Amino acid sequence: MSAPAPAAAPERLEVENLTVTHTGDGGEVRAVDGVSLTVRPGEALVLLGESGSGKSTLARTVLGLPGRGARVRGAVRLSGTDLLGLGERALSDVRGRRVGYVPQDPDAGLDPLRRIGSQLTEVLLRHRIADGRRAARPLALRSLEEAGVADPERVACAHPHELSGGLRQRAVIALALACGPGLLIADEPTTALDALVRARVVDLFTHLVAERGIALLMVTHDIGVARRAGHRVAVMREGRIVETGPVEQLLGAPRHPYAAALVAAQPGARDDR
Ligand SMILES: Nc1ncnc2c1ncn2[C@@H]1O[C@H](COP(=O)(O)OP(=O)(O)OP(=O)(O)O)[C@@H](O)[C@H]1O
Ligand SMILES: [Mg+2]
Repeated sequence: MSAPAPAAAPERLEVENLTVTHTGDGGEVRAVDGVSLTVRPGEALVLLGESGSGKSTLARTVLGLPGRGARVRGAVRLSGTDLLGLGERALSDVRGRRVGYVPQDPDAGLDPLRRIGSQLTEVLLRHRIADGRRAARPLALRSLEEAGVADPERVACAHPHELSGGLRQRAVIALALACGPGLLIADEPTTALDALVRARVVDLFTHLVAERGIALLMVTHDIGVARRAGHRVAVMREGRIVETGPVEQLLGAPRHPYAAALVAAQPGARDDR
């Protein structure tokens, strides 16, 4: 496909002392508790942690989507822009353009009533990457192809429910990358994918980080994916980061007992190199 790939400037993400409290029927849950982290341009940070440790809440809060009724304290800066201080309109200019987001549940990222191609075209038009449907179409197909879709034309014409879970996940990845964001936040982006497509998606992320210099914040439970795509790992437990370090060092010789247990419990913990 000949359409040039759009590319925004690489971004730097700084999260400072972030605390997010959910209020629900069961009372208050401090899902994120004083987290600080930085992801530099050209760097991939992988978030590991057991279920409920606050990974998705952290990822969503960076996008300004902490959840209904959530209280947020601390700071989130995108290359100097204070994201928590932005209004809804300014945030929606940032989302999809400067920051791509792959939600944990692909269906949350797709409109069930519209064809995949039209959803891609819309994001390209909204952020003025293309100046008309005709110009947007090849970019939409290209981004599906990039995300590992073998038959982009067919997928572009499909509604979400007509696609397998793996294809929906790839469609969401295509949407997140369509405008060439400088930061990609991907929440378990490879869980519904078979091994081959997973490898392809991980290679794509690695390429975007290495060649285009984007920053990547990725949540995964898959140690193999963490090893292949990550530079640094942060391990979360009960809303806090208990250990952080370079991938090989942290996965090879975790210091914190919880990090060690988590790594040891992963399938392929020893032989996935
Ligand atoms: N919208 C919400 N309202 C109330 N509580 C919430 C909400 N979202 C998350 N929580 C709670 O916050 C905590 C962290 O949840 P979160 O989804 O961030 O964890 P996670 O690390 O992404 O888990 P998983 O690996 O299962 O995806 C949990 O106790 C969860 O029940
Ligand atoms: Mg989650």
